[in-house]
Amino acid sequence: MEPEKLCKLAIEAMTHAYAPYSGFKVGAALLCADGSVYQGCNIENAAYSPTNCAERTAIFKAVYDGHRDFTAIAVCGGRDGVITGAFPPCGVCRQVMREFCGDDFHIYLVNGKGFESVTLAQLLPYGFTAGEHMSANG
Ligand code: THU
Repeated sequence: MEPEKLCKLAIEAMTHAYAPYSGFKVGAALLCADGSVYQGCNIENAAYSPTNCAERTAIFKAVYDGHRDFTAIAVCGGRDGVITGAFPPCGVCRQVMREFCGDDFHIYLVNGKGFESVTLAQLLPYGFTAGEHMSANG
């Protein structure tokens, strides 16, 4: 699938955002290796910390359905759903991506005019993976 199409699906996903506290609506569209796409939005909470980001909503939906092999994710967001520029995924979402994705996992950051493309290796160098604690002593 073309990155532009994935970005459009992220923009559509943003309309599902539940963001009454920050007003910052986020959408994501995750491309699986088999070509299927999972969309996600941010889902906020009155207690703030239970909030789930759009990227994790998409990834968790896909994993629940049996997918663990991912190619790319498109992400967009803006106050009241108006995209004024690209923003990078939060650290928690980068760590969740690291669980399932390799260094060359593509992240398309929608900026309103098009998108910027980065890789997981760029966003989360020297990340913690399953191998680290599996081999830990003690
Ligand atoms: N948010 C995301 O959905 N993804 C990110 O990568 C960064 C932040 C959401 C969480 C919260 O609902 C709102 O943006 C403001 O932080």
